[in-house]
Amino acid sequence: MAAEVPSPFRILALETSCDETAAAVVADGHDVLSSVVSSQVDLHARFGGVVPELASRAHVDLLTPVIAQALVEAGLDGYGIHAVAATIGPGLIGSLLVGVSAAKALSLVWGVPFIGVNHLEGHLYASFIEEPDLEPPLVVLLVSGAHTMLIAMEGPGQYRLLGSTIDDAAGEAYDKVARFLGLGYPGGPVIDRLAMDGDPHAIAFPRAMKDEGYDFSFSGVKTSVITYVRKQPDVSIADVAASFQEAVVDVLVTKTRRAATEIGANGICLGGGVAANSSLRERLLDACIADGLRGFLPSRAMCTDNAAMIGAAAWWRYQSDGPTPLDVGADPGLHLPLVG
Ligand code: KG4
Ligand code: ZN
Repeated sequence: MAAEVPSPFRILALETSCDETAAAVVADGHDVLSSVVSSQVDLHARFGGVVPELASRAHVDLLTPVIAQALVEAGLDGYGIHAVAATIGPGLIGSLLVGVSAAKALSLVWGVPFIGVNHLEGHLYASFIEEPDLEPPLVVLLVSGAHTMLIAMEGPGQYRLLGSTIDDAAGEAYDKVARFLGLGYPGGPVIDRLAMDGDPHAIAFPRAMKDEGYDFSFSGVKTSVITYVRKQPDVSIADVAASFQEAVVDVLVTKTRRAATEIGANGICLGGGVAANSSLRERLLDACIADGLRGFLPSRAMCTDNAAMIGAAAWWRYQSDGPTPLDVGADPGLHLPLVG
C-alpha cells in the first residue's frame, strides 16, 4: 500500500543490528538532521569479534542516550517526528530486538507509523543520501563483515542479485586474516593502513573465480595467507597485508566492472563497511573513469553501520509499502527482497 508522504517528512531511524548503536533523524530520505553512532568496537576487541550477548546488553544501555542525542542535535522533540524506523534484520537477534522494541514503543507513544527496514537495503540507500540524483540502473557492490553481494538496482526497491559469496564475506576475510596476524578487531581498517607501507605485488595470493560469473570466494585467499605466513614467519607483515588486499580488491573490482558493462549500468555504487577501504575506493573510481561510468562512493561514515542509511531506506519503503504492521518482528535471517 503506497502512503501519502508530507514534506518535510522526518523519520527517527534506529540501527542496532550488530555492534553499533545508532540513531538518526532524516528528512525526505536524504536530508540528515542528525546521525549519532556509538561504536561498541572497544567492548568486543579483546574477544577478537562481536560477542552477541554483550552487544545486546550494550544496546540496552546506549540506545536511550543515543536517541536523545539524535533528537537534540536535530533540534526536535518527539512532536517533530513523522515516523520511527528500525532495522528489523538481518543481524543478531538480541541486538535487533532492542532497536525494534524501542522503535515500536516510540511509534505508539507519539502516534506515528513504524517502518521496519532491511539492513542491506539501508546500505544500498546510503549512496542516495549524499547523491539523491543517482539514476538507476546501477550496480551496487555491497561488502560488509557479513555480506558480499553484487546487485543490479533497477529502480527504488527493484533489486536483482547478480552474485554473492559462496563462503567468507570480504570483511570476514579481512577480520580473520587480521586475527591470525595478531592485528586486532576489526581487521579491515588496520590491514588497510598497514597495506599503505607494503608492496601489493610482493606475494601472488590467489584470486578465486576472478573471471567466472559473479559469485565470490574469499576463504581460499585467507587460508593461503595463513599458510604463507606459517612457512615464512619473517615475511614483512606490511607486504602480506598489501598483497592480501590486492588479491581481494582485484576480484571485487574486476567483477563489479564487468557487471556494470553487461547490464548497461549508468554507474557503480559501493556500500557496506569494506567500502571504506582506500584501495577499493581508488581502484573502483579509476575503473569508472576508464569505462565512462559514474562512480559513487559514499563517505566512510556512511559506508559503515549507521542509522542515517536506515532513515533513507525507510523513506522509500514507506512510500511504496506504507507503515509496517506492529506484529512484524525482528528477523535475523531477513533477505533482501529481490525481483525476478
Ligand atoms: O557494514 P559493517 O559496518 O557491518 C556489517 O554489517 O558487517 O562492516 C564491518 C566490516 C568489518 O569486517 C570490517 O573489518 C570491515 O567492514 N571494514 C573494512 C574497512 N573498514 C571496515 N574492510 C576493509 N577496509 C576498511 N577500511
Ligand atoms: Zn552493515
